[in-house]
Amino acid sequence: MIDSLLERLGLGPLRRESVTEHRGRWHAITGITRQGAPVFVKHITDPAVFGRAVAFERFAVALPGLPRPRCLGWDARESLIVFAHLRGTVDGLRAAEKDAFDVPTARELGRTLALLHGAPVDGDGPLRPAEQPHPPVALLEAISLPAFLEASGAELELLGMLHEDTALAAAATRLAEEACAVAQLPCHADLRLDQLLLGAGGIWLTDWDQACLTDPARDIGAFLGEWLHRSARKVRSGTAAGTEDFAGTRPLVAAFWSAYRSARSAADGELARRSVAFAGWHQIDRVFAIARSRAWLHPVERAAVGIGRVALLSPADLIEAVGLCR
Ligand SMILES: Nc1ncnc2c1ncn2[C@@H]1O[C@H](COP(=O)(O)OP(=O)(O)O)[C@@H](O)[C@H]1O
Ligand SMILES: [Mg+2]
Repeated sequence: MIDSLLERLGLGPLRRESVTEHRGRWHAITGITRQGAPVFVKHITDPAVFGRAVAFERFAVALPGLPRPRCLGWDARESLIVFAHLRGTVDGLRAAEKDAFDVPTARELGRTLALLHGAPVDGDGPLRPAEQPHPPVALLEAISLPAFLEASGAELELLGMLHEDTALAAAATRLAEEACAVAQLPCHADLRLDQLLLGAGGIWLTDWDQACLTDPARDIGAFLGEWLHRSARKVRSGTAAGTEDFAGTRPLVAAFWSAYRSARSAADGELARRSVAFAGWHQIDRVFAIARSRAWLHPVERAAVGIGRVALLSPADLIEAVGLCR
């Protein structure tokens, strides 16, 4: 199936010996075609998600300056989508682990997000509004019986913490409402360090299958949230003390934000505050991802939830500390 699509795209079939399989959320393969094209082929079996990935590609045609792996084509019937495989890159998470995520990289990401958020949208365009509120407030109210039966011990523990915390639920609900009330702009909506590729001449954004029109604070908050999460983990695992570790990352966030602001002066005045609040939610979101395969929560994860809670409840107090100041 993959070969017939690649042949249809004029790339030739895959060279068998070059193929590597990847298991992410979706099954994907990388390889080199007989014509010598390095490809990354993703099998997105959820039709709604596949539809979003294709809608984003249609939208991005009008945004040639957006650095992302070039989409070479797709087959909707087979749920396959083909990208140019960017070789010689390292993902942002690995770069962060090696302390190689530097200020110029953060600045370039700021400019890139400003370009995305500032892109013109038309009401009938391919990119659709977000389908679910974010934060996903329904999660904070109740859990269905099938979800309960499937949940891991750590997920139930986390849900228990959240369901008891009415202040947190109220803050998340307020944030979701505010996010709906602002201008809905083109967003990546699933920005994590591992979705960024560094090298091959710059920084590239991958995995656009959640892209939609939503509050741009979600993307800014996710970037900030990734760094907050990293320092929360370091603090608790004993490799950093107190807020010192975030002091090391603050220049990255500040450079990112200043590049974003210079490239997008139209940003609303409350963007920084909502971004901090979304960075707070991001902690909880990350802990959910970790909890899926765990019997109980580690103190590191409980600490991350605690930090997320503070950011959700009092975002304005943290704007300066995290580096999103004017
Ligand atoms: N075109 C590409 N070239 C090189 N690496 C890629 C490319 N697209 C994605 N990646 C890397 O592979 C990882 C998984 O791909 P992704 O599209 O995010 O799949 P999933 O939806 O399963 O998360 C990404 O996080 C990124 O690091
Ligand atoms: Mg991904």
